[in-house]
Amino acid sequence: MTESFLKRYSFDIVANDFIAAGKGSSTIKNLLKSMGIEANIIRKIAITSYEAEINIVIHSYGGQLHCDLYEDKIVIVSQDTGPGIKDVELALTEGYSTATESVRELGFGAGMGLPNMMKYSDDFEITSSSDGTVIKITILL
Ligand SMILES: Nc1ncnc2c1ncn2[C@@H]1O[C@H](COP(=O)(O)OP(=O)(O)OP(=O)(O)O)[C@@H](O)[C@H]1O
Ligand SMILES: [Mg+2]
Repeated sequence: MTESFLKRYSFDIVANDFIAAGKGSSTIKNLLKSMGIEANIIRKIAITSYEAEINIVIHSYGGQLHCDLYEDKIVIVSQDTGPGIKDVELALTEGYSTATESVRELGFGAGMGLPNMMKYSDDFEITSSSDGTVIKITILL
Protein backbone atom coordinates (compact mmCIF):
# COMPACT_ATOMS: atom_id res chain seq x y z
CA MET A 1 0.00 0.00 0.00
CA THR A 2 1.35 3.40 -0.90
CA GLU A 3 1.33 6.47 1.32
CA SER A 4 -1.85 7.76 -0.27
CA PHE A 5 -3.88 4.73 0.90
CA LEU A 6 -6.96 5.77 2.86
CA LYS A 7 -9.37 2.89 3.46
CA ARG A 8 -10.46 -0.60 2.39
CA TYR A 9 -14.05 -1.84 2.16
CA SER A 10 -14.37 -5.64 1.85
CA PHE A 11 -17.19 -7.96 0.88
CA ASP A 12 -17.37 -11.76 1.02
CA ILE A 13 -18.71 -13.21 -2.21
CA VAL A 14 -20.32 -16.65 -2.12
CA ALA A 15 -20.10 -19.03 -5.07
CA ASN A 16 -23.40 -19.77 -6.88
CA ASP A 17 -25.40 -17.38 -4.69
CA PHE A 18 -27.40 -15.59 -7.37
CA ILE A 19 -29.63 -13.89 -4.80
CA ALA A 20 -26.74 -12.02 -3.16
CA ALA A 21 -24.84 -11.57 -6.44
CA GLY A 22 -24.30 -7.89 -7.16
CA LYS A 23 -24.77 -6.70 -3.59
CA GLY A 24 -21.07 -6.05 -2.99
CA SER A 25 -20.67 -3.93 -6.09
CA SER A 26 -23.92 -2.04 -5.51
CA THR A 27 -22.85 -1.26 -1.92
CA ILE A 28 -19.54 0.08 -3.28
CA LYS A 29 -21.47 2.20 -5.80
CA ASN A 30 -23.67 3.70 -3.06
CA LEU A 31 -20.67 4.34 -0.81
CA LEU A 32 -18.88 6.27 -3.55
CA LYS A 33 -22.06 8.21 -4.35
CA SER A 34 -22.39 9.25 -0.70
CA MET A 35 -18.76 10.39 -0.79
CA GLY A 36 -19.55 12.70 -3.71
CA ILE A 37 -17.29 10.91 -6.23
CA GLU A 38 -17.82 12.02 -9.85
CA ALA A 39 -20.56 10.09 -11.73
CA ASN A 40 -18.24 9.12 -14.56
CA ILE A 41 -15.80 7.49 -12.10
CA ILE A 42 -18.62 5.74 -10.24
CA ARG A 43 -19.90 4.30 -13.52
CA LYS A 44 -16.52 2.72 -14.29
CA ILE A 45 -16.24 1.30 -10.75
CA ALA A 46 -19.82 0.01 -10.85
CA ILE A 47 -19.32 -1.82 -14.16
CA THR A 48 -15.93 -3.33 -13.34
CA SER A 49 -16.71 -4.34 -9.75
CA TYR A 50 -20.03 -5.91 -10.81
CA GLU A 51 -18.34 -8.00 -13.51
CA ALA A 52 -15.61 -9.10 -11.09
CA GLU A 53 -18.18 -9.99 -8.42
CA ILE A 54 -20.36 -12.00 -10.81
CA ASN A 55 -17.32 -13.88 -12.06
CA ILE A 56 -16.54 -14.93 -8.48
CA VAL A 57 -20.15 -16.12 -8.07
CA ILE A 58 -20.26 -18.01 -11.37
CA HIS A 59 -16.74 -19.26 -11.99
CA SER A 60 -15.01 -19.57 -8.61
CA TYR A 61 -15.31 -21.35 -5.28
CA GLY A 62 -15.93 -18.00 -3.57
CA GLY A 63 -13.84 -15.03 -2.56
CA GLN A 64 -13.74 -11.37 -1.67
CA LEU A 65 -14.30 -8.09 -3.40
CA HIS A 66 -12.33 -5.15 -1.99
CA CYS A 67 -12.62 -1.47 -2.73
CA ASP A 68 -9.41 0.35 -1.81
CA LEU A 69 -9.60 4.12 -1.58
CA TYR A 70 -6.49 6.17 -2.20
CA GLU A 71 -6.14 9.94 -2.43
CA ASP A 72 -5.72 9.76 -6.20
CA LYS A 73 -7.34 6.47 -7.26
CA ILE A 74 -9.75 3.69 -6.42
CA VAL A 75 -8.57 0.09 -6.75
CA ILE A 76 -11.03 -2.79 -6.95
CA VAL A 77 -9.42 -6.05 -5.89
CA SER A 78 -11.19 -9.32 -6.62
CA GLN A 79 -9.72 -12.48 -5.14
CA ASP A 80 -11.04 -16.01 -5.04
CA THR A 81 -9.97 -19.50 -4.06
CA GLY A 82 -9.99 -21.21 -7.43
CA PRO A 83 -10.25 -23.18 -9.67
CA GLY A 84 -8.46 -20.41 -11.55
CA ILE A 85 -8.23 -19.63 -15.25
CA LYS A 86 -6.13 -22.02 -17.33
CA ASP A 87 -5.54 -19.69 -20.27
CA VAL A 88 -5.80 -16.07 -19.12
CA GLU A 89 -5.14 -14.61 -22.58
CA LEU A 90 -7.99 -16.65 -24.03
CA ALA A 91 -10.29 -15.66 -21.14
CA LEU A 92 -9.61 -11.98 -21.92
CA THR A 93 -10.85 -12.46 -25.50
CA GLU A 94 -14.27 -10.94 -26.27
CA GLY A 95 -16.91 -13.66 -26.49
CA TYR A 96 -14.92 -16.41 -24.76
CA SER A 97 -16.96 -18.07 -22.01
CA THR A 98 -17.10 -21.38 -20.22
CA ALA A 99 -20.48 -20.53 -18.62
CA THR A 100 -22.88 -23.46 -18.44
CA GLU A 101 -26.27 -23.52 -20.13
CA SER A 102 -28.09 -22.89 -16.82
CA VAL A 103 -25.92 -19.82 -16.13
CA ARG A 104 -26.54 -18.56 -19.68
CA GLU A 105 -30.27 -18.83 -19.06
CA LEU A 106 -29.80 -16.33 -16.22
CA GLY A 107 -28.35 -13.89 -18.74
CA PHE A 108 -24.64 -14.38 -18.11
CA GLY A 109 -21.98 -15.93 -20.31
CA ALA A 110 -21.53 -13.45 -23.16
CA GLY A 111 -17.80 -13.55 -22.49
CA MET A 112 -17.68 -9.77 -22.05
CA GLY A 113 -16.94 -9.40 -18.34
CA LEU A 114 -13.13 -9.47 -18.45
CA PRO A 115 -12.91 -7.43 -21.72
CA ASN A 116 -15.13 -4.77 -20.12
CA MET A 117 -13.07 -4.73 -16.92
CA MET A 118 -10.01 -4.02 -19.09
CA LYS A 119 -11.86 -1.42 -21.17
CA TYR A 120 -13.09 0.61 -18.19
CA SER A 121 -9.96 0.46 -16.03
CA ASP A 122 -6.93 2.75 -16.16
CA ASP A 123 -4.76 -0.17 -15.10
CA PHE A 124 -5.75 -3.84 -15.12
CA GLU A 125 -3.82 -6.73 -13.58
CA ILE A 126 -4.81 -10.37 -13.45
CA THR A 127 -2.99 -13.35 -12.01
CA SER A 128 -4.48 -16.81 -11.86
CA SER A 129 -3.47 -20.30 -10.78
CA SER A 130 -5.38 -23.35 -9.59
CA ASP A 131 -5.32 -21.73 -6.12
CA GLY A 132 -7.36 -18.79 -7.36
CA THR A 133 -7.57 -15.60 -9.31
CA VAL A 134 -6.63 -12.07 -8.28
CA ILE A 135 -7.72 -9.08 -10.34
CA LYS A 136 -6.72 -5.47 -9.66
CA ILE A 137 -8.68 -2.76 -11.40
CA THR A 138 -7.36 0.77 -10.98
CA ILE A 139 -9.52 3.80 -11.71
CA LEU A 140 -7.76 7.15 -11.44
CA LEU A 141 -9.64 9.99 -9.76
N1 LIG B 1 -12.82 -15.68 -11.13
C1 LIG B 1 -12.73 -16.60 -12.09
N2 LIG B 1 -12.38 -17.88 -11.79
C2 LIG B 1 -12.27 -18.82 -12.74
N3 LIG B 1 -12.52 -18.59 -14.06
C3 LIG B 1 -12.89 -17.34 -14.41
C4 LIG B 1 -13.01 -16.27 -13.47
N4 LIG B 1 -13.37 -15.15 -14.13
C5 LIG B 1 -13.46 -15.48 -15.41
N5 LIG B 1 -13.17 -16.79 -15.61
C6 LIG B 1 -13.11 -17.51 -16.90
O1 LIG B 1 -12.94 -16.56 -17.95
C7 LIG B 1 -14.04 -16.64 -18.86
C8 LIG B 1 -14.36 -15.25 -19.40
O2 LIG B 1 -14.86 -14.41 -18.34
P1 LIG B 1 -15.84 -13.20 -18.72
O3 LIG B 1 -16.24 -12.52 -17.49
O4 LIG B 1 -15.18 -12.39 -19.79
O5 LIG B 1 -17.08 -13.94 -19.40
P2 LIG B 1 -18.28 -14.75 -18.71
O6 LIG B 1 -18.26 -14.55 -17.23
O7 LIG B 1 -18.19 -16.16 -19.18
O8 LIG B 1 -19.53 -14.05 -19.37
P3 LIG B 1 -20.12 -12.57 -19.02
O9 LIG B 1 -19.14 -11.92 -18.07
O10 LIG B 1 -20.20 -11.84 -20.32
O11 LIG B 1 -21.46 -12.82 -18.39
C9 LIG B 1 -15.15 -17.28 -18.06
O12 LIG B 1 -16.12 -17.92 -18.88
C10 LIG B 1 -14.38 -18.30 -17.21
O13 LIG B 1 -14.00 -19.42 -17.97
MG1 LIG C 1 -18.14 -12.65 -16.45
